[in-house]
Amino acid sequence: MSSSIQRFYSIADLRSHAKKRLPKAIFDFFDGGAEDELTLQRNVKAFQEKRFIPQVLNDVSQIDYSAPMLGGPSAMPCAIAPTGAVGFGWPKGDIAIAKAAAIFNIPYCLSTTATASIEQIAKDAPGRHWFQAYILKNQDFFNQLVQRAQDADYEALMITVDLPVGGKRERDFRNDFKIPFHLTLRNLMDFSSRPLWALPMLFRGIPELENLIGLDSQSATKQNLGSSVGKNYDPSFNWERLQRIRDQWPRKLIIKGVLNPEDAMRLVKMGCDAIVVSNHGGRQLDGVIATLDALPNIAKAVNQAIPVYIDGGIRRGGDIVKAIASGADGVLIGRATLYGAIAAGEEGAHHALAILQDELKRTMQLCGVSNIQEIHHSLLDKSPSGMN
Ligand SMILES: Cc1cc2nc3c(=O)[nH]c(=O)nc-3n(C[C@H](O)[C@H](O)[C@H](O)COP(=O)(O)O)c2cc1C
Repeated sequence: MSSSIQRFYSIADLRSHAKKRLPKAIFDFFDGGAEDELTLQRNVKAFQEKRFIPQVLNDVSQIDYSAPMLGGPSAMPCAIAPTGAVGFGWPKGDIAIAKAAAIFNIPYCLSTTATASIEQIAKDAPGRHWFQAYILKNQDFFNQLVQRAQDADYEALMITVDLPVGGKRERDFRNDFKIPFHLTLRNLMDFSSRPLWALPMLFRGIPELENLIGLDSQSATKQNLGSSVGKNYDPSFNWERLQRIRDQWPRKLIIKGVLNPEDAMRLVKMGCDAIVVSNHGGRQLDGVIATLDALPNIAKAVNQAIPVYIDGGIRRGGDIVKAIASGADGVLIGRATLYGAIAAGEEGAHHALAILQDELKRTMQLCGVSNIQEIHHSLLDKSPSGMN
């Protein structure tokens, strides 16, 4: 590990470095949210505003922060959230994050729109793998993706349900940013202002959304897949079709993008294996409830029948403690490791997880708990000012 990366002490430091390294349009694609970004901001703020009430005089010399994720071993109560197009920020960035997850012994979830294939991840980053699937209009292609995940021994299928259509991401519009790159004078100047980013892109070639190659063979070449993806999501997807997926997929099924307790109860009845309380990191419906605000009612409705995970706004190890104290069984890490990877590749993704792990352990010690099971809602301030 290079000494310079040790100078990044927080996820915010990694984000700042990524911002300096990348063209504005690329950084904004990763960093941004939908419309006024109210939900993006509120996700982070909800964690920042929660206050601890620690317990003292407990022996915290030995800390065990391991916790099962989806019934399997995990060194922390965390998994990597699916994020698409990482290769646009760092060459082979998806593999960098998957390798870091394997080293830290936590599950990794590959996105449908990743710039690494299902098989590449299985081969280059052995570890616990989940596959996130968007619902494509082309059902045969969707079925093939799911079959490939099964053949490559992915242990779980994650269906994302908060994207019947794309959110309105205005930073991308203003920056003329599209996948594939659509060279306008604005983004040509933007890209050429960051030669350390642009040169490797030129030499290695523009990354591809590897799992979607061949999706629309009539109109899509490898270069124009990005633009064809949005139009291939299926807004007619509904409970009946989800039930069919449940009946056909023999392994664990996770549903991501749940905010409504009634939906959560229905998913439990349907036989889903886990739920992710998520608003897509504020990239979809702006103005929707922050995930930490939605979590307690969902945890109550699910009543421990299946694991409830949360993502959105987790930037500190202490946020993991806050999530668990608020009723989650674990968290998914989205931008935190993404900032690491787009700042410094595998080393950066590794460093992001090291920061979170160190902060998780330290927060547990300072709160007086020595294992994850001891994290309890009594550790959080519930007075009116603590509920802000
Ligand atoms: C750049 C980027 C790409 C994403 N791509 C996907 C995706 O392909 N599939 C998906 O289910 N969620 C995707 N998400 C949402 C994440 O899985 C996760 O819900 C979100 O990042 C959590 O919020 P946080 O980044 O604030 O922690 C993406 C998020 C970002 C920032």
